[in-house]
Amino acid sequence: MIHSRYRAPGAIALAAVLTAACGGGGGGGGGFGGPVGTGSGTSAAEQAALVEEGKKIFRFDTFGDEAQWTDTLRIHEVISTAISPAAALAVGLKVDVEALPPAIVKGIQDGSIDLASPATTVALLKLDAVVGLKGKVETVNGKDALTRVGVTCALCHSTVDNAFAPGIGKRLDGWPNRDLNPGAIIALSPAVDAAKKAVYLSWGKGKYDPRYNIDGLNKPVVIPPAYGLEGIHSITVTGDGTEIAYWNRYVAVTQMGGQGSFTEPRLNLSITNGTTDLVTSKLPALQAYQLSLKAPAPPQGSFDAAAAARGKVVFEGAGKCATCHSGALFTDANSTLHPPGDSMAEPESPSYASRSATRMYRTSPLRGVWQHAPYFHNGSAATLEEVAAVYNTRRSLGLGPQEIADLAQYLKSQ
Ligand code: HEC
Ligand code: HEC
Repeated sequence: MIHSRYRAPGAIALAAVLTAACGGGGGGGGGFGGPVGTGSGTSAAEQAALVEEGKKIFRFDTFGDEAQWTDTLRIHEVISTAISPAAALAVGLKVDVEALPPAIVKGIQDGSIDLASPATTVALLKLDAVVGLKGKVETVNGKDALTRVGVTCALCHSTVDNAFAPGIGKRLDGWPNRDLNPGAIIALSPAVDAAKKAVYLSWGKGKYDPRYNIDGLNKPVVIPPAYGLEGIHSITVTGDGTEIAYWNRYVAVTQMGGQGSFTEPRLNLSITNGTTDLVTSKLPALQAYQLSLKAPAPPQGSFDAAAAARGKVVFEGAGKCATCHSGALFTDANSTLHPPGDSMAEPESPSYASRSATRMYRTSPLRGVWQHAPYFHNGSAATLEEVAAVYNTRRSLGLGPQEIADLAQYLKSQ
């Protein structure tokens, strides 16, 4: 088990290092820009300020979900006693190197900071350096103690570039964290019973079931990117909402446990957490930030350009891909949804579509598709080669091995 394997008692002198490193600093070190500008009045300036505000919300706002992660699940106790940085990295949590003062960076490099100690995790949380986790660290009996913890959108929808070490680097917002094992993290809670624990532990890394706590069914989906969504008015793999804010409200309230309300008549769902709405006012900025996140271009040399050019011809011709993956966004999502039979990830049991508000699937946008294997909503295809081969078989396209390979190269070039 994650926590027992890495459990390492023993004190470290990190607190001292931190105090020295932080000087009189105001504790954050996040480097996410100054206060939201009052703006010069131009709409471009206002838009930039909205995006900047949304970035802070995306990275650091919990919407008051400490009620779930601290009061109910008691994850702060688990972290304080059993989750070393090594254990945190092992469940796919990421560390933002830009939030670390130089003395900490040096300490990690020279080994003087103990990555096997939960106290180090608490210190990292104090620095706001654990991507997607927001901790409140207070002095209790002269020592730093983690008294509250909550999660943010960045937990699942950001990763890091590993520039410093595996799992430690600069933030890449919008990139799904496919190393993250959300089920394993929830299963650490002493408040989760054995039956539910077994369900959470069955999900595996990069997957999460955002409907399990609603309908009791268990079939996780891959964590999708939150980039490349500009111009797409059909959100989630089943197109449940026409804009991002719809789903952001769903996740913030029903999954993260944020304070606010979500109502969906199609699912006969009406949930209110707490008495103060900490979600609604943040949705416009949060949406603006996500819409500003572009799909990442493929790395230099990651595909064969000549093969990709041939693959484009297959995509638009014999492969019939462009009939659904149409236009610049590679999707017909703004005009139609598709029956479950059109998904190469179906049949599955229970069908994810059957649990959604639309009971249909959206044609996936393909910009940045090179970045987020495995593919389809349940991750059933490991590679883009496999995607092309599955379509060829299931839709009887009659493509040869060369055409399938070319098609995969074309997808990698997007
Ligand atoms: C525990 C992991 C987790 C957290 C935390 C989380 N999400 Fe998600 N998110 C998912 C999963 C899984 C899906 C796929 C659901 C689906 O498509 O049915 C998803 C879907 C989305 C989508 C739809 C993408 C698309 O292609 O249409 C957006 C946008 C999104 N999340 C943004 C957010 C924001 C903003 C937050 C914070 C309020 C957030 N998520 C918090 C796991 C998470
Ligand atoms: C009849 C409409 C239709 C056609 C034709 C079609 N697709 Fe799709 N495509 C979809 C739908 C719907 C999904 C979402 C399926 C899911 O996740 O369950 C999808 C998903 C994908 C994905 C997964 C993207 C991701 O982010 O996981 C890839 C890649 C893809 N299609 C490539 C292709 C290629 C290549 C072709 C041609 C050989 C093709 N598609 C033909 C409708 C279509």
